[in-house]
Amino acid sequence: MWAMPTKRLFITLEGTDGVGKSTHARLLKRWLQKKGVRVLLTREPGGGALAEKIRGLLLNPAIRMAPLVELFLYEAARADHLKTVIQPALKKKRVVICDRFTDATLAYQGFARGLSLTDIAALNEVASEGLKPDLTLLLDLSPKEGLAKARARTTSGSGDRLENEGLAFQRRVRHGYLSVAKRDKKRIRVVPVQSTIEATQGLIRDIVASVLKR
Ligand code: TMP
Repeated sequence: MWAMPTKRLFITLEGTDGVGKSTHARLLKRWLQKKGVRVLLTREPGGGALAEKIRGLLLNPAIRMAPLVELFLYEAARADHLKTVIQPALKKKRVVICDRFTDATLAYQGFARGLSLTDIAALNEVASEGLKPDLTLLLDLSPKEGLAKARARTTSGSGDRLENEGLAFQRRVRHGYLSVAKRDKKRIRVVPVQSTIEATQGLIRDIVASVLKR
């Protein structure tokens, strides 16, 4: 058994739609808690009271918005989330697990929507006040499988506004994530999604354990 961390740790989970991030985030939280680690699990877009309202707008398939508007809403939600949830938890030396963060904006609004990566990096920096994850777990699965899983989750079979963008969009998102990961190998660890949840979670736990022991 490894020692409890006394330092703050900020872990993010990323991936295309349907890779199972939220399930793995929950399982990781439970596993850490059993080891006596104080954990906060949160998500983007959302996490804060105002940010959750913005999430409702962003994911509503009935609302159309220009890519730039979408970008600003994600960043506005992030700024609220950072101030009201992430910073206070890190100050209390919690391990914070966040389901998506700034890399998602590069992959979705940058690589997939085609907005300027330089502009997004600058806005990410402002909205997150320069906060960088200590560790990012990038769950990697073929977008075809991911999209099928994401659609199977909803009873109607219809997805949210981003899931409805389709396969070509998800392929650009995946390419974006892998490109970002290549540039920051120390922080971003690519986790190939395995055939069972247990096997994928095992890979995740090994990585997190090695980071906590550092
Ligand atoms: P979720 O399905 O993981 O809850 O995320 C909601 C959607 O928002 C998902 O399709 C990815 C998308 N997204 C962006 O496009 N940009 C962002 O910055 C974030 C955080 C999420």
